[in-house]
Amino acid sequence: AALSQDELKTLVGQAALQYVQAGEIVGVGTGSTVNKFIDALATMKDQIRGAVSSSVASTERLKALGIAVFDANEVESLAVYIDGADEIDGNGYMVKGGGAALTREKIVAALAQRFVCIADESKLVAALGAFPLPVEVIPMAAQQIARRFEARGASATLRLKDGQPLVTDNGQHILDVRGLSIADPLAFESEVNQWPGVVTVGVFAHQKASVCLLGTAQGVRTLA
Ligand code: A5P
Repeated sequence: AALSQDELKTLVGQAALQYVQAGEIVGVGTGSTVNKFIDALATMKDQIRGAVSSSVASTERLKALGIAVFDANEVESLAVYIDGADEIDGNGYMVKGGGAALTREKIVAALAQRFVCIADESKLVAALGAFPLPVEVIPMAAQQIARRFEARGASATLRLKDGQPLVTDNGQHILDVRGLSIADPLAFESEVNQWPGVVTVGVFAHQKASVCLLGTAQGVRTLA
């Protein structure tokens, strides 16, 4: 029988262990695929120093499994950061933030020498932009940023949770932007980063994946 999406996530979560070296502090992302990696990492917790985490949710899971969590300010550099993606293209450029953790994800990714993306094959795309692009914004700037996206033919909506604007781990809001075509991810990321009130744009081009472990029906496919 074909592997379910959940089984594909388990497969790549376990495969990512090969990028973890004994004695290290590991950069850990957020999401359902990373949860599989965290579970796998627990099997070698006595061999690593610990983790730097990209969300409250991942921190809680790491600690519950007995893995020490370090503050990002205690660490100068990480050998590896392991995280999922909402979309990844053939160049390793990604859209992230479906789980609202994009700002801390980009911060931890920026500490790492290598970004290992783990994803099931549904995340691989020819061009970024079908998944609504998450953008973390300072609340007072949300509507002017939404209008900037509308001026380029897209539509931006404030992400809600229980009928209220979702509040991120950093106390900010998220816009989800539909109808973009992101032909040049590096230029797009740089441009949106200049807009006042943008905290983080969910395009990871300057912090792209160095390698992607893709879960497929034929097993783990490595894109590098
Ligand atoms: C979290 O903010 C996102 O960037 C996640 O990395 C992304 O949503 C992937 O999550 P799943 O592994 O649950 O698909």
